[in-house]
Order: sequence, then structure tokens, then C-alpha cells
Amino acid sequence: MIARVGSGAPRVGITGIGAYAPERVLTNADLVKMVDTSDEWIVERTGIRQRHVAEPDQATSDIAAPAAREALECAGVAPEEVELVVVATASPNMLFPASASFVAEEIGARNAAAYDLLAGCTGFVHALSQGYAAVAVELAKRALVVGLETLSKLMNWRDRTTCVLFGDGAGAVVLERVEDGGFLGFELGWDRSGGFDLCVPAGGSRAPASPATIEQDLHHLQMNGREVCEFATRAMVSSAEQLLVECRLTVDEVDVYVPHRANRRIIDHAVRHVGLAPEKARVNVEHYGNTSSASIRICLHEAVAAGTMFAGQTVLMSAVGAGLTWGSALVVWGDGR
Ligand code: UT7
Repeated sequence: MIARVGSGAPRVGITGIGAYAPERVLTNADLVKMVDTSDEWIVERTGIRQRHVAEPDQATSDIAAPAAREALECAGVAPEEVELVVVATASPNMLFPASASFVAEEIGARNAAAYDLLAGCTGFVHALSQGYAAVAVELAKRALVVGLETLSKLMNWRDRTTCVLFGDGAGAVVLERVEDGGFLGFELGWDRSGGFDLCVPAGGSRAPASPATIEQDLHHLQMNGREVCEFATRAMVSSAEQLLVECRLTVDEVDVYVPHRANRRIIDHAVRHVGLAPEKARVNVEHYGNTSSASIRICLHEAVAAGTMFAGQTVLMSAVGAGLTWGSALVVWGDGR
């Protein structure tokens, strides 16, 4: 799917942003004590130095509330004014009901529709498009779009090929009609040819939980890192390029690039091949690891807080994730919030 927001279309923008990461930090040195790995290997292959990890008693929705409240406060929106809560996550509280209903309850969004959206690490971009559409057609005046993960709960902590990569975190944005700026377009897609390269194989209808699925360790995240990496390097570039063409923008007109933080090498490759100046990229993979659908949001939040992203700038976001899926969005950032 590719769509450009036409000049006569309603303008919808991000008016508030918040992020939260659990307090517990797991460094590369901690992981060296758990699996056969090294700080050098992790830093060289991924750029990651530490990741945040939820406590055993923290479920996914528990880490959403601080991020959601900050986003609402930033936008000056009361919880009762929110009419849509979309949660993008691949690590929900439970298979159902949706984590969004727990989040809505926790923050007091009692007048909102609330549902989850699953598109792996691309969930944030997909959820933004849902929030955009709902606000544009006035299905909702204000939407809260949350990306949150506790992938640590799905990790096989004996598998060095995955457990060093991921981290937990949450990010939230408020979407509303705006006078200027706002979203310019979206490009979203999927490709099943590598569909089982990144998945949690059991626990759903294909392989319901059983003693055998537990014995075979099928309830943990599994990834063919090399295959996903090859796909990601291609898709991050082609998605961004297609969206720029659709929105009739040159790469020089992009002020800020916020890529999904899977791995520093994938990001560097995308920056080079899309043709972006390296200083336009906002990257914090070293502190958080891959926080999946929360990753772009946490990075946006840091860039705003650090003053390296501000009103009027054209921001390009791109992600790749389980599905396999990809997605890009272009937005003109709002009035300093
Ligand atoms: O968010 C979207 C989803 N995720 C991604 O986009 C991640 C995509 N993939 C990647 O980022 C990279 O493929 C990895 C970082 C996961 C791996 O890097 P790589 O350069 O593709 O390494 P590799 O999988 O080719 O493995 C190279 C070697 C292997 O040993 P042999 O077979 O060459 O002897 C692995 O067993 O590195 C070994 N290895 C490790 N060694 C130390 C794998 N994991 C580790 C580890 N520590 N943690």
C-alpha cells in the first residue's frame, strides 16, 4: 500500500509524544555471563551495548502507562478526550483480550475504542497509518498510538543468536488534526517468502500449546538473523525510496531520518543507499537494543527531548519486521511538541 496525503486532504499530525523503558538494564557484560558471547561481537555486529528489560511481574501494558500519560500531557489532551487507542505489539499481555484495553483502562481513556495491531517491528508505522486515517475521517478526534514490547518475555535466554538483540520499551504519540504539516504519506507492505525467519512458532492455532511444543522450545522467539538482515537491508531502502517518489520529495528535502533500530549495520546501509546525509539519522540502538514496535517512537522522543528534531522538519521513518513486513512514513513535525 502506498498513499500520499493530497494537498486538499485533512492534515493530521503528532501533537504529543512520550516514551518509557523499564528501569532494569542488561549490559553486554551481563549477557557474557549467560551465553557464549562477547561485548566485541555484539557491538561490532549490532552496535548494541545495553538493553532495558521488564521485571518478572511487569506485563506489556504495565510499561505503556508512563509513555501514554507523557504523550497526553505533552499534547494537552485529557484521557477522556481520546477516542482511539491503537497498540502495536508483538508481545501482548496475553493472546486476547487486546493489550490496548488494559492500556486504555490504566490511563482512563474510557471513551476510546481500543485494539491491538500486529505487524512485528513495523507495527508503529502501521499503527500510525490507522491513527492517521481515523482522525482524518473524524472517526476519532484524538488517537493515542502506542508501540510497546516486552520481548524479553518471549526470549530464549540460552539462545545467543537472539537474546543479545532485543530490549523492552514503550512509546506513545497523540494524533490530532493540525493546521500545518502533519503526515505526508505511508508505504506499507509484506512478503511471506521469509515468513518463518522471524516468529514465535507455537501458542496459536497452527501449533497450540502442548507438552511437545514446550519440549521443542517453540514458545520462544526464533529468528534466522542472516536472512532477516538481508531482507531488511533491501526493504528499508526500497520502502523509503518509493515513499519519497510518491510524495514528490527529494532525499535532500528530508531533514531527519528515524529508522527502526534493528542493528547499526542495517541502519548505516539504509542511510548510504537512500542517499541521506549521515547526520540526518537519529539512532540510539546502543542504549536500547531492538525494541521492535517501540523503537522508532523511543528514538523520536529522545530526538525531541535533545532538541535535535523540531517543528517544521520533514521526518522520514522506516521499519522492517516479522511477517515479514516493512513500512515507511513521512511527517512534517508539529509545533515543537
Ligand atoms: O527488527 C527486525 C528483525 N531483526 C533484525 O532485523 C535482525 C537482523 N539480523 C541481524 O541483525 C544479524 O543477522 C545478526 C546481528 C543477528 C547476526 O549477525 P551476522 O553478521 O548475520 O552473523 P551470523 O548470523 O552470520 O553469525 C556469524 C557467527 C556464527 O558463527 P559461525 O556459524 O560463523 O561459526 C554465529 O553462530 O556468529 C555466531 N554468533 C554469535 N557469536 C557470538 C551468533 N550470535 C552470536 C553471539 N555471540 N551473540
